[in-house]
Amino acid sequence: MTEQEVRKGLYGVVADYTAISKVNPETNSLLYRGYPVQELADNVSFEEVALLLWNGELPTGEGLDEFYAKARARRGLDDDLIKVIESMPQDCHPMDVLRTAVSFLGTRDPHKFTQDTDHIRDIALTLLTKLPTIVALDIRRRRGEGYIEPDPAKGYAENFLWMVFGDGEGSPATIPSDIEAFEKSMILYAEHSFNASTFAARVITSTNSDTWSAVTGAIGALKGPLHGGANEFVMHNFVEIDDPAKAEEWTLDKLKNKELVMGFGHRVYKKGDSRVPTMEAAFKKLASEHPEKDSQKWVEIYDIMAKTMYDNTSIHIMPNLDFPAGPAYHILGFDIEFFTPLFVMARITGWTAHIIEQYENPTIIRPLAAYNGPDERHVR
Ligand code: COA
Repeated sequence: MTEQEVRKGLYGVVADYTAISKVNPETNSLLYRGYPVQELADNVSFEEVALLLWNGELPTGEGLDEFYAKARARRGLDDDLIKVIESMPQDCHPMDVLRTAVSFLGTRDPHKFTQDTDHIRDIALTLLTKLPTIVALDIRRRRGEGYIEPDPAKGYAENFLWMVFGDGEGSPATIPSDIEAFEKSMILYAEHSFNASTFAARVITSTNSDTWSAVTGAIGALKGPLHGGANEFVMHNFVEIDDPAKAEEWTLDKLKNKELVMGFGHRVYKKGDSRVPTMEAAFKKLASEHPEKDSQKWVEIYDIMAKTMYDNTSIHIMPNLDFPAGPAYHILGFDIEFFTPLFVMARITGWTAHIIEQYENPTIIRPLAAYNGPDERHVR
């Protein structure tokens, strides 16, 4: 293999087919199984999107009711898992808690390796339903608050917000537009083709390992600041800037020092991320509905940074989904270190859809490397 054929970071490499989602940078569009993601965010529930990603079609009537009943009954955690979570350090990263909790759940599976796609689907359902409960428990224990049991009568987003914030006055679980904004973010984060964490899950699945291992690996990949971790860094930056009057200079300084501005740029989209307009609208709506949280300040910083990046980069770098999602989660009341676990709760649907697809089309993923170390030499 010649030097010129090396594609660092697999840049531009098409590694396989997928029927799950189509990212089209030319038209700024993202389709889940053919449906534009914006339409899904405006018209269906996150649980319906999960079924669409796993099965290829949106559920209808009775099928959906049966699914709701089955899924919502599975949200609870057993005492052993609660003990494992509570035994972890209060100051470890919440992604470490999630990674460990998923791995722990895997030790309970009597099948050491994947049996068939029904087995993967069953694990996918378990994770879709239990991850929010795990995240909520972790948020509350760090705040010194007790575990709130899931409520099978509530929808996905309402139940999660309730498990985190309870139902006291001002809780987002009691405000329909807050519930709606959170649910939209879950739909927008659900799936994005061969991104790094999904690809990690596919690599692990390609060795005929098991779904728990694939998801554990994917969580590790998503934790990185260049991938899912970016939504946390976005909000840390907003907090550091704090005053809209400083936003332009702060951004220009980063560019001058050749530092990355988190929440901007994308490996695939070079003319804007198709998910941003929906999430930006949800963020700005949340901000206007919560003036008591000094939210307008974040909107101003958002707009100034976006304009500064666009105007001052030769390739007009634009925001990615993490840029509006970060401040939206902040307004909803989440601690910053939990933003990436929220992303996991959504992306579990895409990961497991890809695990099914990879399992059904088995080929071990094993690229080559161009060796550039020392020539052959000998110990003596
Ligand atoms: N801030 C400042 N400069 C950026 C930038 C950002 N967020 N994103 C890209 N650039 C610069 C690159 O450094 C590069 O500059 P160079 O030509 O001087 O080396 C140029 O723009 C082109 O970069 P590009 O090829 O488009 O980026 P990539 O495909 O290698 O990387 C990301 C894509 C997402 C990893 C990158 O944009 C990034 O690190 N963004 C910040 C982290 C983030 O928000 N991640 C979430 C992704 S959904």
